[in-house]
Amino acid sequence: MTTLASKKTLCSRNIAAICLMASILAFILYFEPTSPVCPPTLSQEEYRQVMEPQEKPLVLLWFWPLGVKFDFKVCSTYFHIDSCVLTDNRSLYSKAQGVIFYQKNINWNLKNMPQDPRPAFQKWIWFNVESPRNTAKIPGLDDLFNLTLSYRRDADITVRNELTIRQTEMKDDFVLPKKDKLVCWIVSNNLLYTGTAVREQYYRELSKHIKIHVFGKAYGGQLLSYDEYYSTMASCKFYLSFENSIHTDYITEKVNGPLVAGTVPVVLGPPRENYEQFLPGDAFIHINDFPDAKSLAGFLLHMNDEAYARYFEWRKFFTATPHLQSTNNEFIHPICLACDHMSRDRDFHVVHDLYDWYFT
Ligand SMILES: *[C@@H]1O[C@H](CO)[C@@H](O)[C@H](O)[C@H]1NC(C)=O
Ligand SMILES: *[C@@H]1O[C@H](CO)[C@@H](O)[C@H](O)[C@H]1NC(C)=O
Repeated sequence: MTTLASKKTLCSRNIAAICLMASILAFILYFEPTSPVCPPTLSQEEYRQVMEPQEKPLVLLWFWPLGVKFDFKVCSTYFHIDSCVLTDNRSLYSKAQGVIFYQKNINWNLKNMPQDPRPAFQKWIWFNVESPRNTAKIPGLDDLFNLTLSYRRDADITVRNELTIRQTEMKDDFVLPKKDKLVCWIVSNNLLYTGTAVREQYYRELSKHIKIHVFGKAYGGQLLSYDEYYSTMASCKFYLSFENSIHTDYITEKVNGPLVAGTVPVVLGPPRENYEQFLPGDAFIHINDFPDAKSLAGFLLHMNDEAYARYFEWRKFFTATPHLQSTNNEFIHPICLACDHMSRDRDFHVVHDLYDWYFT
């Protein structure tokens, strides 16, 4: 959990004013505080004053998440975020107000993290979109970051780009796509398959009672291109939105995809109540609504058209929009959001027990 740290360590209260002036001077002179004069001792209020008359903050993306690049212009063109400047140029490190680090890219020995001292005004942002189960506990990350960026609602910067359900004016223009398959599943990642994962067990049990069309390499099926992703989902009456592990708020594009495509997600993940905090309760079927896979299979097999149509009623009031259509990069929106956050954040933060928080 992040808490506020505004400890005065070097300068005492009575010389705070001098510190403030020195800091302002330092900023004006473009002083790179490798050996900070006083900035670490600024109080919240002083910090705000120093930071206030501000140009757009500079935010440095230290790693390209998983090495995949994209054009930073997407933040303004697609997400209408234009309050900050993003860069991947590490030469600008000492000037950046925020630096984003993608968890998976961090080396175990932290050797690929900045080696230069952190300017006092700079915030390090821990960025992770993976569930705890797929997050390595790299030692030495406690008390290192200032902000967290994740799918958790209690993160400093919460990303919910996977679920893009929005309330809209009443409308009745939804056209049910043509269906030629009953149940489908697209699985892209075979590394997770140990054979004991909850979703794999459930899939095996369910497949004894109902035919499941599997796409993706994990089960020897065909690999779908991004363009084929929505059209494939749309052709199925039901789609298995099985999360790879079960954690509070860990509700991903596996649910958003079918909602966008016009199919009914059958979800496996956190409890129904958690899903209902993000999407209409009648938009999906939860595996926990049934005592076992066999009764779920029976329910899906015997549902009549009228009952099926009820799963689309919510579309009169809400709309689900796809991810960035031009690219399949799930990192763009979080990075844009972090950048935007930096244009508003004027507080000190220290993330004390990163993994204690993330793994609960
Ligand atoms: C990175 O920034 C430095 C300092 O402003 C500049 O000299 C250099 O050309 C930049 N590099 C790139 C690739 O833009
Ligand atoms: C950022 O966190 C570090 C500790 O990791 C702390 O020393 C520093 O004061 C924090 N900076 C801000 C601007 O919150």
